[in-house]
Amino acid sequence: MVFAVSVDNRTTICGLITSKPTNLSAAMHNAGYAHLGLNFAYIPFAVNDCGRAIAGMRALNIRGLSVSIPHKQEVMAHLDSIDPVAVKIGAVNTVVNDNGFLKGYNSDWLGATEALKEVCTLNNKKVVVFGAGGAARAIVYGLKQYDCAVTILNRTVEKARLLADEFGMAYGDSMAAVRDDYDIFINATSVGSADECPIDPEALRTGKIVMDIVTVPMETALLRCAKAKGCTAVPGWRMLLHQALPQFELFTGQKAPLKVMDEALLAAIRESE
Ligand code: ATR
Repeated sequence: MVFAVSVDNRTTICGLITSKPTNLSAAMHNAGYAHLGLNFAYIPFAVNDCGRAIAGMRALNIRGLSVSIPHKQEVMAHLDSIDPVAVKIGAVNTVVNDNGFLKGYNSDWLGATEALKEVCTLNNKKVVVFGAGGAARAIVYGLKQYDCAVTILNRTVEKARLLADEFGMAYGDSMAAVRDDYDIFINATSVGSADECPIDPEALRTGKIVMDIVTVPMETALLRCAKAKGCTAVPGWRMLLHQALPQFELFTGQKAPLKVMDEALLAAIRESE
């Protein structure tokens, strides 16, 4: 999707740094700016050298950056301050530039919890998180805020154990560890496509909530199997939307127009598929 963003010498620039940017974040943020009549523009930057990109942010006075794979950890070394929540999670997905002072935040945990809260009350739920990488860390942090009992499953069980110990949660190596005793299953790995499922779908049970962090395709094999089994499916793009709203507010100081950004994201995903 190409936006007719008009730019002049007063335009405030924001953007995304990641190795392979898509159009999805730009679609959301630019639609929000247009809706509110803000003289802002959001540009996806394909970045391999995170440190030089942040130096560029300072030099060009870029107001805000979303940070995605693979820079969420490395970016922390280049900032002036980091929000304590992002320190706890160990990753930054948002950088705000206040007159040359760069502060990092993490809104991924809000993305996950707000996406789940669209379909359930999250407090005290029993949740299985598959994965123990950066995305899983943000999700486990978020679930802890709602007093959820989390079991972390991971291919490398030692990483699941370390993450579980850090957040006071349980761990295991397969769905056999939890049997049917869970409310929500979350795929927090990037494993997943239209054909590939991160777990044996036979392990899913009717009535459970199943969330996938994979954004494209909209309906992964995991979500398709979940629906076929009578589960409630929460697609990854709901999380992408909800992590973008706090970013928008940090960048602009204005409340993010949820409906407009939601529709823009959906249109951009449909276009990309
Ligand atoms: P991210 O920041 O996106 O979470 P990451 O930190 O590299 O990325 O973590 C990737 C996660 O996906 C890990 O949990 C990883 O499992 P391992 O710890 O065993 O490596 C998981 N993962 C990656 N490829 C996988 C695969 N083919 N099967 C199962 N899990 C996989």
